[in-house]
Amino acid sequence: MATIAPSILSADFMNLGGEVRRMEKAGAQILHVDVMDGHFVPNLTIGVPVVQALNGWTDLSLDVHLMIANPEQMADLYLDAGADYLSVHYETVHHLDRLLERIREKGARPGVVLNPHTPVSVLEAILPKCHHVLLMSVNPGFGGQKFISTSFQKVRRLRSLIDSQGLEVKIEIDGGIGPGNVKEAVESGVDIVVAGSAIFGSENPEKTFLEMQQNAGKSSD
Ligand code: DX5
Ligand code: ZN
Repeated sequence: MATIAPSILSADFMNLGGEVRRMEKAGAQILHVDVMDGHFVPNLTIGVPVVQALNGWTDLSLDVHLMIANPEQMADLYLDAGADYLSVHYETVHHLDRLLERIREKGARPGVVLNPHTPVSVLEAILPKCHHVLLMSVNPGFGGQKFISTSFQKVRRLRSLIDSQGLEVKIEIDGGIGPGNVKEAVESGVDIVVAGSAIFGSENPEKTFLEMQQNAGKSSD
């Protein structure tokens, strides 16, 4: 049982509203929104005004993934813009406990993101404050990259860390996932699967979404 979250990074930006409608019609519940600043990652995407516009356009939950150097300064803007999930990189935050508290206080679901090189052990003390943990299975910055093969082992290690603390924290995975490996992701313990190029780069994005959702089992938010 897992939820597929289409990543609009690979959608047609000239027709973003229409692309979102397609995913609504296909039955998506969560939309993954990649915010990049050209500092923390070598790419620049979208920011607050687009999140605001998406929030006014759709009822889908907005899963905002901040790949920015200063999330502590910017979080409030994204929360006010309508982020339902707000995920911040462990590698970018000095006062993680304070920031996750702040996100929850503002009514959103706080999550910590780990780069491929960051071990899950760093989460031990902060897990109780997380609604979810997002594991990067590619180096952040671009859609369409190759899945890093050791990522499912990391998912399993995270699942046992969560279980050992008796918590209900959800595991999200991001990068290089498509119809061919989504089942393995879910079997290793993933709850939310992000997919960008696999969906929007396919001939029929609705069909690919449904295929992935089917391979992942029934959806659960
Ligand atoms: C990459 C982003 C991902 C991206 C995934 O830095 O965080 O969300 O959209 O793209 P795919 O699914 O194409 O690997
Ligand atoms: Zn992402």
